[in-house]
Amino acid sequence: MSAEIKDHKNSKRVKVIRLQESDLDKLIFPFKKHTITSLEYKPFSRFTLAKSLDEVFEGKLGKSLAKILNDRDTGVAVVEPEINNKKFDKDFLVKLSTGLAYLVGNPNFDSMTGKYYARFYVKHQDSSDSYLRKAYTNLDLHTDGTYVKEKTDWLIMTKMEEQGVSGGESVILHLDDWEHLDELSKDPVGQENFTWGSPKSKNIEYKVEHPVFSKDQNGEATISYIDQFPEPKNMKQGLFLQKLSDSLEGSQNKIVTSLPVGSAIVANNYFWLHGRKPFKENKKLSRELLRIRGSFFNN
Ligand SMILES: [Fe+2]
Repeated sequence: MSAEIKDHKNSKRVKVIRLQESDLDKLIFPFKKHTITSLEYKPFSRFTLAKSLDEVFEGKLGKSLAKILNDRDTGVAVVEPEINNKKFDKDFLVKLSTGLAYLVGNPNFDSMTGKYYARFYVKHQDSSDSYLRKAYTNLDLHTDGTYVKEKTDWLIMTKMEEQGVSGGESVILHLDDWEHLDELSKDPVGQENFTWGSPKSKNIEYKVEHPVFSKDQNGEATISYIDQFPEPKNMKQGLFLQKLSDSLEGSQNKIVTSLPVGSAIVANNYFWLHGRKPFKENKKLSRELLRIRGSFFNN
């Protein structure tokens, strides 16, 4: 069967791709062919896996996903597999996410983990050096890959598991829905180069230079921004970033949504920003996430 694609209840820009249990069943056998280690060590095996995934959905899943991601009017999909049965374990979700990634492009090497993907927990206590794993503060709207040299065209975030969770909803914003896009993307400061570094846990030794706002081949504005990593050189750059941060967080057009366990957000990283609301305090809080970022095949 081909996958069922609907509009998200909160926005037509967000497409929801539901994968039914009867189809997922057909993946169990081809997925068993690969272990997590073989997927990590042998890049070609990830293509084989992705091909199996696409075949279960009549060869249409990859095309649909690529179309959604490249369409400026949409650009984001929530993939919701029906995984209530225990046979769909965490390894299955790693493989499913890997398959989705390799249907649209090549993942970047994730320096935080030294693999093509990263798995990490958000818990009650945290001693890390970035907002990613701080449960009780807002993870402000941002794009990924602001501090790396590789192109980050898209990202996948999969919710592997969670316990004791209240709050922590996903927040996303389409650039064209943001009230101050015109004003801030045309501001000359937004188009000048900023220096972008990153904290130690990211394992990136170098810094990069790029503006916050650029234009794609159709002349549409794109953004590469996160609050923590730009290093403003002067008052003008500092004040611009503050204004940008306040304006993004203050947007009335953010989409706030709770994702079911097992589901993945697949987003274009040039015109969608993503973030997370704070969790309600709970000593037993635990959420495990998987992320993959990469470039499109046609790039
Ligand atoms: Fe992110």
